[in-house]
Amino acid sequence: MNREEARRFALERLKASGLPRAALEADLLCTEALSCSRESLLAHPEEPVGPGQEKQLVSLLEARILRRPLAYIRGQASFWGMDLEVGEGCLVPRPETEILVETALELFHCGRFLDWGTGSGCVALAILSERNNSRGLMLEKSPAAIFWAWRNLSRTAFRDRALLWHGYSLESIPSSWVPLDMIVGNPPYIPTSKMASLMPDVRFYEPHQALDGGPDGLDDVKDILAGANRLLVPGGTVLLEIGGARQVNTLRSMPVEGLDLIRVKKDLSGKDRIVVWRHR
Ligand SMILES: C[S@@+](CC[C@H](N)C(=O)[O-])C[C@H]1O[C@@H](n2cnc3c(N)ncnc32)[C@H](O)[C@@H]1O
Repeated sequence: MNREEARRFALERLKASGLPRAALEADLLCTEALSCSRESLLAHPEEPVGPGQEKQLVSLLEARILRRPLAYIRGQASFWGMDLEVGEGCLVPRPETEILVETALELFHCGRFLDWGTGSGCVALAILSERNNSRGLMLEKSPAAIFWAWRNLSRTAFRDRALLWHGYSLESIPSSWVPLDMIVGNPPYIPTSKMASLMPDVRFYEPHQALDGGPDGLDDVKDILAGANRLLVPGGTVLLEIGGARQVNTLRSMPVEGLDLIRVKKDLSGKDRIVVWRHR
């Protein structure tokens, strides 16, 4: 088998299993199995593929056909121009979460922020990379996610401006970090009744504690809002990613002590995605 034949073989297997981006994914799995770049894969179609590499390709294809997320198979996801390490136990960073970062950067220029539910660390690392005079507290309850956040944080030049904190709530954060200038977070916000209809890649492999937000999807959002008031400086902000207009309506109708809902931002598909509150 040569590289061209490997690409065709991978494409056929992925297409037959109904994966929508089969051509791109086939190439990425080939680059993984053959330890080469996509450019080299395309530029040298005649290059032979060794038996070990072929075996490796088959095993990667089998994993993907069983819907293991591509990012977990490759051990890597891109976010805000960074290559982050990811794997079982942490949510794969999503493109819409970059809008959370964009909005945070519009409002936050220096000071201390909390990244609630840091997962891979994507949000905190993006903000720290853009704001030299900032410090970030990365709160996470899942030890498995903390493993990935630490792998990502420890490789950065700004690791001494962050603290990765194992905790379950705003009450658990160290008092030395209070008051905060900003609380940012992408909490679980899928209503429990919708968990069963998530695509198999997500439903079978990504951690449910990163996704399931309770009956209306807002259990954690409400907890964060209930505690934010006591932790923020006057004028400080809370920015949370949420899942659409219905949740925004619930949030608009819900009085929050000390905070005013000041902005709702949509994602590229027009869905309400980021909500911002300001501390009076
Ligand atoms: C939707 S994921 C977001 C991960 C990451 N921030 C991102 O945007 O990709 C939510 C994260 O919150 C964490 N989490 C859930 N409940 C939590 C709690 N009570 N305290 C701290 N972290 C929590 C989950 O383990 C998960 O890593």
